[in-house]
Amino acid sequence: KKIALAYSGGLDTSIIIPWLKEQYEGAEIIGICTNVGQDEDWANMEAKALKAGASKLYIKDIKEELAAEYIFPMVRAGAIYEGKYLLGTSIARPLQSKHQVEMALAEGCDALCHGCTGKGNDQVRFELTYKALAPELEVIAPWRVWDIQSREDAIDFANERGIELTVTKEKIYSRDWNIWHMSHEGGDLEDLWNRPKEDMFLLTKSPKDAPDKETEIIIDFEKGIPVGLNGEKMSAFSILQTLNKLGHDNGIGRKDIVETRLVGMKSRGVYETPAGTILHEAIRDLEMVTLDRDTLDLKNKLSIDYSNLVYAGKWYTTARESLEAFMAKTSEFVTGSIRVVLYKGNVLITGRKSEYSLYLEDLASFGESSYDHNDATGFINLFGLSTGVTAMVHKEKEGN
Ligand code: ARG
Ligand code: SIN
Repeated sequence: KKIALAYSGGLDTSIIIPWLKEQYEGAEIIGICTNVGQDEDWANMEAKALKAGASKLYIKDIKEELAAEYIFPMVRAGAIYEGKYLLGTSIARPLQSKHQVEMALAEGCDALCHGCTGKGNDQVRFELTYKALAPELEVIAPWRVWDIQSREDAIDFANERGIELTVTKEKIYSRDWNIWHMSHEGGDLEDLWNRPKEDMFLLTKSPKDAPDKETEIIIDFEKGIPVGLNGEKMSAFSILQTLNKLGHDNGIGRKDIVETRLVGMKSRGVYETPAGTILHEAIRDLEMVTLDRDTLDLKNKLSIDYSNLVYAGKWYTTARESLEAFMAKTSEFVTGSIRVVLYKGNVLITGRKSEYSLYLEDLASFGESSYDHNDATGFINLFGLSTGVTAMVHKEKEGN
């Protein structure tokens, strides 16, 4: 048996290797680890996987692809789950698992394996991708079948098998990190009234420690996609990296929320999404200048559907792909620049310009203009016709 494992180097996926070898005698384990922009001990990753018993480890650098092909289209779509969560983990899973599937097929594996628990969202995201791209492969989800029930059990299991761990039983947060965000769940956050400890945050300063000085930046967009900063063209990943640094320094992008997981339970998550917070704010402003009311309205409504699809891991589906086509079409003229000031946790829009701006100064001006005030009389008579009729009828009946 040959099993392709989505390997992260963390506790869970490390103990999965010996566990699989005990369950499936003679099984060969191929690890696939993806670099999505997290800091990691990359130099020792392979040795660590081999030591745990894998026969090979592939490390795939997919951070540029994640930024350009997944994150930026999601920003264009304005996708924010339950009005708050910027979908940092959700958006990475389909791409990470796509690479896992590709390596599994290239290696001739019979099974795919991941280290997600049976309570969470990630298991669904991994497995919907498996189903979309390689429905013939067997799926192994150890957390749903083994007797390891807690972090402590997992550490004991590792110690019994001589697996080296850098974690301790005290390290309590479940974290996920990529170029878009870092998530924090579990530990003291499980009590909804507990305020997150300041030293939990790793990607952002507290707004109160941010400099008492504004940082100004211009973000350039083409067809709803960020293409550069201050007039300089940059890759998707570099834009995120630069905005993450500015966001970090200015205390931008923290969010503490209680979200509804796919299985239905409420769950608390604290997120740091510095670049994402800035980009969402900026592109919404550009849309308001370049899109007519009907398009803007439809797009905002469909953003909610899009965000639900991303949260649920339904990336490789007709529904998401069709919505993508809608988002691309509506963003055809969302091109221009937004000036933003970053200051103590705030993202302040201070200017916008676009060759497709629908704002005509002459038309909107309070001064002399080509607009004929007289036209409004007939317009309001018809616009308000049904309101007037309704009021008249109701009044007449009340009078009786
Ligand atoms: N609750 C968030 C989501 O569903 C974050 C999940 C983080 N995953 C993790 N394995 N730590 O997208
Ligand atoms: C997990 O349960 O494996 C992580 C959290 C999640 O998937 O929502």
